[in-house]
Amino acid sequence: MRIIETVKEMQGVADELRKDRKIGLVPTMGYLHEGHIALVKKAREISDVVAVSIFVNPTQFGPSEDLARYPRDFERDRGLLEREKTDIIFFPDVKEMYPERYSTYIQVRELENHLCGKTRTGHFIGVATVVSKLFNIVKPHFAVFGQKDYQQLKIIERMVRDLNMDLKVVPYPTVREPDGLAMSSRNTYLSPAEREKALLIYASMKKVEALFKAGQRDVSVLREEVKQVLSSEEGVQIEYITISDAETLVEIDRIENKAVLAIACRVGKTRLIDNTILTEA
Ligand code: PAF
Repeated sequence: MRIIETVKEMQGVADELRKDRKIGLVPTMGYLHEGHIALVKKAREISDVVAVSIFVNPTQFGPSEDLARYPRDFERDRGLLEREKTDIIFFPDVKEMYPERYSTYIQVRELENHLCGKTRTGHFIGVATVVSKLFNIVKPHFAVFGQKDYQQLKIIERMVRDLNMDLKVVPYPTVREPDGLAMSSRNTYLSPAEREKALLIYASMKKVEALFKAGQRDVSVLREEVKQVLSSEEGVQIEYITISDAETLVEIDRIENKAVLAIACRVGKTRLIDNTILTEA
């Protein structure tokens, strides 16, 4: 496994590899969990060379967000990736990615003002910018993203389409703990009691899925159900519960086409998100 820290070296290696091999990239911010490993396995399945980037991207954190305390453990990540026979870890530092006088940002306008974008101003500009840079540096044929970050996935898909980037974005279903909690590096912040409360998110989505299956299409009824479940215990602060068109992310009143139920809440100090697709197909 090769660990590459500079843009120049990574681009040179990518050019060489691209002569006869397909590169699959899994962009991450490290502190890997089984969810990331599933993405790595998917990349392995569809490409000849698997590259994982580890970079805690400062431009996607707001001033009051958890950049400084975001969990990091490179040695642990390296061990996990070695076990998966990952070929390359791209592990740049902040100066390498954002040198002095850095000033170019990417904005995917239509999709950024919904869901998390409403409260996390600038977050998706940071995400789109760093991901486009990673695409230019690692030069992958495939890039695998988890559906847990649904808005992020849709924004990256749209960016790739709009900017004619020559790669395929491969979505991967949310990986969950056996009890349903969506895997996330931020789960490590939860105390045992908070983790128990966090399960209400999954429980509320299951309720909505059952109601949808039984024919309920009225969004206000479905949203109210989520609210009831999340409010059934103290300590879960709802940030948003939305049901939106699955492609445009625009909120709807009635489900006619494929929709996404997206939830963001705080359990203690930890912000958690999750989503489920509501579709007849
Ligand atoms: O999903 C993440 O971990 C990050 O948003 C990403 C895609 C690696 C960009 O920093």
